[in-house]
Parts: sequence; C-alpha cells; structure tokens
Amino acid sequence: MLTIGIVGAGLRGRLFAEALRDQPGVTVVGFAEPSDRVAEQARAATGLPVLPSHTELFSDLDPDAVIIATPDFAHRDAAIDAARGGRHILVEKPLATTLEDAHAIAEEVRAGGGRCLVGFENRWNPHVVKAHGSIARGELGAPITSSAVLSNSYFVPTQMLSWAGRSSPAWFLMPHTLDMLTWFIDSPVASVSAVVTDGILAARGVATSDVVHALVTFESGATANLTSAWVLPDGGQGIVDFRFELIGTAGSVSADLAHQGLTFVTDRSRSEWPLSGAIGRAPVGPAVWMVQQFAAALQDGGDLGPDVEHGLAITRAIRAVEVSAQLGRSVRVDELPAPGNAQGTP
Ligand SMILES: NC(=O)c1ccc[n+]([C@@H]2O[C@H](COP(=O)([O-])OP(=O)(O)OC[C@H]3O[C@@H](n4cnc5c(N)ncnc54)[C@H](O)[C@@H]3O)[C@@H](O)[C@H]2O)c1
Repeated sequence: MLTIGIVGAGLRGRLFAEALRDQPGVTVVGFAEPSDRVAEQARAATGLPVLPSHTELFSDLDPDAVIIATPDFAHRDAAIDAARGGRHILVEKPLATTLEDAHAIAEEVRAGGGRCLVGFENRWNPHVVKAHGSIARGELGAPITSSAVLSNSYFVPTQMLSWAGRSSPAWFLMPHTLDMLTWFIDSPVASVSAVVTDGILAARGVATSDVVHALVTFESGATANLTSAWVLPDGGQGIVDFRFELIGTAGSVSADLAHQGLTFVTDRSRSEWPLSGAIGRAPVGPAVWMVQQFAAALQDGGDLGPDVEHGLAITRAIRAVEVSAQLGRSVRVDELPAPGNAQGTP
C-alpha cells in the first residue's frame, strides 16, 4: 500500500484527495493545514486527519509520498523536508517563486533519492496531449513559432486566492503555458523579452501585477508569444481563458481550451471549466489524471512526468521574465545566477 500525505488542504489539496479516493493500492493518510477554518472544511469533506504542520504530518503519519499544494511562495520547506526524508513528491507548479528556493528544492531532491513530479497538469490535458503527439511525430514539421494565452477573471486574484498579492500572472499562470510550449517545441528557453503592467489590481487592494507579456526564444531558434492576465471581466463566460497555436514547417495546431464547444450563460452563473467535476463516480480533469498517474507510477516504476530539473528550468525562465520586465531589455536565462554563485543578473 502506498501512503500519501497532502500538505495544504485548500482547493488543490482537497481535489487531489478526492482524485485518489478510489485509487487501488493507495491511501491518503491525511493533510497538513495551518488554517483552522480550512482544516475544518477538509475534515468535513474528506473525513481525513488534518495536522497543523507538514512536520507533524511527516512524523505522525509517515507517508511514503507527499503532495505539496501550498501557495506558490510556500513550497520550499515541505519540499525540502520531504526530499530529505527520501519521500516521493508531487509539488504544485511553480516549483518555487525564487531561484534560491527552486535550486534548494532541486538539490535536496537530487540528494534524497525520492522521485519528484512538478504539477504541470496540462501534460494530462487531452487537447494538449493530442497536439504534442502530432508535433512529436513530426506531422507539423519543425516548430517555427507559437503563442499561448492563459488568463483569469478578477475572481481569481480577488476572491479565489487569499495570497494573490504574493504571486502574479507570471508565477501563477505563465508556468502552465511555458511548460506546454517547451514540451511542444522540445527545446530549452534561451532568452525572454517581457513587459509587465500593474495598477488595476493594486487599486482594488491586491498588491500584484495585472498582465505579463513574454516573447520567448528557444535554443532551437523557435519563438513563442505568451500572455497572461488576471484582470478579465467577471461577467464573461468563465474564469479562465486558455488558447494556444503552434506553427510548424509542415502544418499548424491551435485550440481554444477555455470553452471546448461548451458555453452556457445565465444571469447568476458562469460556465464551468469543462474538464472538471465528476462523470459518474469518477472525478475527471487534468489535475485528477496527473495525481492518479503519480500514484500509479510510484507503485509500478512507470514514467512520472515533468521532473524537478524541468520545474527548475521553468522557474528560471519565469524569473528571466520578471528580470526582463524590470530591466526593460531581453534577458538570457543563462545570465541568471547559478546555485551557490551570486554573480549574474539578479
Ligand atoms: N487553484 C487552481 O486552479 C490551481 C491550478 C493549478 C495549480 N495550482 C497551484 O496549487 C497550489 C495551491 O493552490 P490552491 O489553489 O490550492 O491554493 P489555496 O489557497 O486554496 O490552498 C493552499 C492552502 O495551503 C495552506 N498553507 C499555507 N502555508 C502552508 C504550509 N506551510 N503548510 C501547509 N499548508 C499551508 C493554506 O492555508 C491554504 O489552505 C499553488 O501553488 C497553485 O499555483 C492551483
């Protein structure tokens, strides 16, 4: 029996517990959650024990594997302690929001011997998987250029996330699209040129940026144009806008993942993300399939998905986006400081 502990009992932590409820050979042993209110919700929803900290979860319930579903800026401590104990880890994207945290986590995972999946859930998104398959088989020729939009309505930074002021569209949203296009193009990010705007959410009391645009050049020479904003109107058809296009030398692929042909509008509700909820008894959606593969692959030794080195590479590329926007010039990812070396563009 594989035992799993979940650190953070918020939206994602509870979704993961639900996704693993009927997984053969797997037991979710409990949560770590510092908020009494959220802990109570998690106990009521799942019947599982909820401990106040990850250290108590690890020492009292001793899980084989740990899912880290804390806010973007709070992955480090649980990831490092889990890795030191040799536990397997699923850590939500982004791996971290600072280079120091990302390098420290990667170092402990390398030393600890456990396996690590970084939660880039679009690897389990059916449209993305189909597009990747076609590109990987060479049906579209060599990738030339690509674009992706992943944006949220105001609901996300002002109501859904209590910690949006400690994240940004670059950290919360863009890792998804940068991971997806990096997977498609199969080449590391070489440099970025970015623009960030702010002021709208700050005026609503949330101290974060509003919009990020990044022009990305991959080492292969392919390019990408990424946009993420979390200032879409709440009166629209949903809280997520998600579209992509890739143009290759022999064809192209594009998708509108926000609607997927399903649109309904009433005076009181907005459209649901189509790949969510349950069909029959089975919870569905990319995050569900991701965590189920995590548990299955830990049991049978199969492929886990994007690892800590990839999570680190995406964190470094998003940091380059931030630095480029601050400096007002293009930034190469290899200009950023390497671990243990403070030299480089900050
Ligand atoms: N919500 C989404 O749609 C979504 C999608 C993909 C990925 N993610 C990622 O998942 C992670 C969690 O997001 P969420 O939406 O579940 O946030 P959330 O705010 O709903 O849940 C996070 C929980 O972690 C708890 N927490 C904070 N510090 C902790 C600590 N040190 N130990 C244990 N628990 C702690 C908080 O009290 C909170 O209950 C983030 O990194 C986010 O980017 C979220």
